[in-house]
Order: sequence, then structure tokens, then C-alpha cells
Amino acid sequence: MRIAIYPGSFDPVTRGHLDIMKRSLNLFDSLIVVVMQNNKKTPMFTAEERVELIKQSVVEAGIPTEHLKVVSNAGLLADFAKENGSSIIVKGLRAISDFESEFQMAAANQKLSPQLDSVFIMTRAKYMYLSSSIVREVSYFGGDISSFVTSVVETAVKEHYRRQHGE
Ligand code: COA
Repeated sequence: MRIAIYPGSFDPVTRGHLDIMKRSLNLFDSLIVVVMQNNKKTPMFTAEERVELIKQSVVEAGIPTEHLKVVSNAGLLADFAKENGSSIIVKGLRAISDFESEFQMAAANQKLSPQLDSVFIMTRAKYMYLSSSIVREVSYFGGDISSFVTSVVETAVKEHYRRQHGE
């Protein structure tokens, strides 16, 4: 069984992330999507909310769920991988600008756990521009995010800003 782990902050999950999940399921026997903490970021949604939005988005996107698990974890990715019997980390690469930080994270993870390998999947051209912060920013200023995210995420993001703006 080749179990791959797809970590991220997923704040919120985008169609680009969903595309990486779908393609990873074609490459590996099973996939664990894990909402991790990036201590440089202050999230919009709690870890539980992000897990729930991923679960609902996967169903909405028609991605098969038999070999897919979605969880959250507040520790080190290398420890999580070990605890879950995986030695494969999957990440999406969008542009050259992603490379440096991904290279550094992959090397650090391998130092922490030598059997751990990172596999990079090229993000589809149509999602190259997309990131969770683009989704948040466009929605904050009232723009249409329906082509970036699923309808469950669109509703949750809009609701977040509606409450924040006290409407
Ligand atoms: N489609 C759309 N957006 C994508 C994408 C894709 N295919 N792939 C990446 N992105 C975006 C993400 O939405 C995110 O956007 P944002 O910065 O606007 O929020 C950005 O690219 C970076 O994504 P990612 O590389 O997944 O970083 P992250 O901050 O979401 O996650 C962790 C980094 C959580 C995996 C990392 O901090 C971690 O492992 N933390 C646990 C602690 C640990 O082990 N630390 C040591 C690691 S060296």
C-alpha cells in the first residue's frame, strides 16, 4: 500500500488543491489530506472548519472518497507521516516562486525523517494563478470566487466576511 500525504493550510481549499487530490489518487493507493499549521499564517477558518470544507468540496467535485481521508494535525509533518505509515508527501507546484520554499521544506522534512520523500505535481495551467489568499482577497472586496472554489467554500467565505463586516 502506497499511502501519500497531502499537507497544507487549505485556508480555504481551492479547485487547484482539489485537482492535485484527484490526480494523486491516480498515482497512489490512498491519500491522506492533512490540514497542518503554518505558524507564519493566521487562518481564516479553524482546522475543524477547513477539514469539513475539504470533505464537502471533495464530494461536490465528484472525487472518489474510498481511498481518501481528511484530517487535521497540529504537530510536525514528518511525525504525522511516520505515525500514518507513509513516506510520501505530495505537494502542488504552481510556479518557480514555489520552488525555493518547497525545496527547503522537503529538505527539512527529509532531515527530520530520512525515508520521507516529497513528490511534486505540476499544477494545471488554468490554476497557476490560484492561491487561498487570492480567494480571500477577491471575496473580501466583493468579487466572484465561484470559479476558484466549490459552492460550499464560496458560501463559507462569504458568510465569514458578512459576519466580519457586521451585516
Ligand atoms: N492550487 C491552489 N493553491 C495552491 C496550490 C494549488 N494546487 N498549491 C499550493 N497552493 C497555495 C496555497 O493555497 C497557499 O496559498 P496561501 O499562501 O495564499 O495560503 C500557498 O500555495 C502555499 O501552500 P502550501 O505550500 O500548501 O503551504 P501552506 O502554508 O498551505 O502549508 C505546511 C505549509 C502547513 C504544509 C507546512 O507549514 C507544514 O508542514 N507545517 C507543519 C509543521 C512542520 O512540519 N513544519 C516543518 C516543515 S519544514
